[in-house]
Amino acid sequence: MTALISKRAKPLRGETAVPGDKSISHRALILGAVSVGETRISGLLASDDVLKTVQAIKALGAQVEQADNGDWLIHGPGLGGLHEPSGVLDFGNSGTAARLMLGLLATHPLAATFSGDASLSGRPMERVMAPLRQMGAQFTARTGGLLPITVTGAKSPVPIVYELPVASAQVKTAVLLAGLNTPGRTTVIEPEPTRDHTERMLSFFGAQVTVEEGPEGGKTITLTGQPELEGHAVDVPGDISSAAFPLVAALLVADSKIELTGVGVNPLRAGLIETLKDMGAKIDIKNLRDQGGEPVADLVVEASALKGVNVPADRAPSMIDEYPILAVAASCAQGETRLQGLAELRVKESDRLSAMERGLGEAGVDVTATEDTLTIRGTGKNPPGGAKVSSELDHRIAMAFAVLGMVSEQAVEIDGAATIETSFPGFQGLMNGLGAAISSSNGSPKGD
Ligand code: S3P
Repeated sequence: MTALISKRAKPLRGETAVPGDKSISHRALILGAVSVGETRISGLLASDDVLKTVQAIKALGAQVEQADNGDWLIHGPGLGGLHEPSGVLDFGNSGTAARLMLGLLATHPLAATFSGDASLSGRPMERVMAPLRQMGAQFTARTGGLLPITVTGAKSPVPIVYELPVASAQVKTAVLLAGLNTPGRTTVIEPEPTRDHTERMLSFFGAQVTVEEGPEGGKTITLTGQPELEGHAVDVPGDISSAAFPLVAALLVADSKIELTGVGVNPLRAGLIETLKDMGAKIDIKNLRDQGGEPVADLVVEASALKGVNVPADRAPSMIDEYPILAVAASCAQGETRLQGLAELRVKESDRLSAMERGLGEAGVDVTATEDTLTIRGTGKNPPGGAKVSSELDHRIAMAFAVLGMVSEQAVEIDGAATIETSFPGFQGLMNGLGAAISSSNGSPKGD
């Protein structure tokens, strides 16, 4: 198992672009597969997770090639034209790929078996199967609704109106993707808004999608089924969930100043920036522009003295993947930071609440967790560090602790760091290029 050792960093300097957005990359591939004509994707995140979606759409009959300039070209069999895969579809570590594809296949008349790694095989799937059953799909799952799962898609799918019981863009997207090959109108009601990349991209590809905003911030999203989707060119923005790691590192390492270019700043993803600004972070959002229906900007980040804050539960959906790295920022802030509404963190790639409580505690940080909160009492000084932590097969846990090592008195060692490849290929090289000192346990300082 690859281990990383992260030591005190030099001041971070330079300009860099992080890899493409994972959520948008999965969606572009899937919509390309059910569109007529060519979809050309530039800036696709070619990480382990996204390559699982590439393999899945190929197994369903899409042609996927890479052009000389690195763009990905998709020629799909089109909506309703997916083939039954001859083998098991393996989704590795990717909850997004598995849940979105269960949605898409739920309304295609074929059977497919989904599998995943140890982490994914323990994650809840009933949340997508429940609405998809109402649309006519059938599932055979392991006890507890776990993978491996076989889906038999509905021959005569029925549209539904579904209110999300949990704030989850994956569940919303699974229902909307199932709604594509369903006659009539499929509606998802979300009491708390979640990332809206699916709605934006469906409209961009030519589907009729309406979004009504409710008085208390909720949304009702309605898709008209069986649209004529046309292949499109998609330019994937940099992933704010990946940018979060160099961004927080630059805030914490004294005398740092970096620029992160081309980062997606969709308001339903940008809760971390708002929170860090509340903590006193110097983050300048420059050159705000539109990229294929998504807002993108360059972020200039300077080392800042942070103070503890209270982060309310209703901010969780807009920064759900950023709590591990926020917890690291809070460990270096002056005063108490209280993070609330975190029950969903227990069912991510790992139980992120436990993983952060344990790892930060081992690194000498004063931290306590409850069922759905994390409270960190920072001293405004560098944490002691000196811990050996496990990634728990979770890329964001591994990267958060690599950043902790950059600001700790003693190095932090992360076991099982190969999982970083699921979302951020080149993490180690990118961070070291800015001034970090992250080495592999085999001694390589630059490897990735
Ligand atoms: C994602 C939605 C979120 C997020 C995940 C990606 C998506 O999951 O944590 O990394 O692409 O829709 P949930 O829907 O489970 O909140």
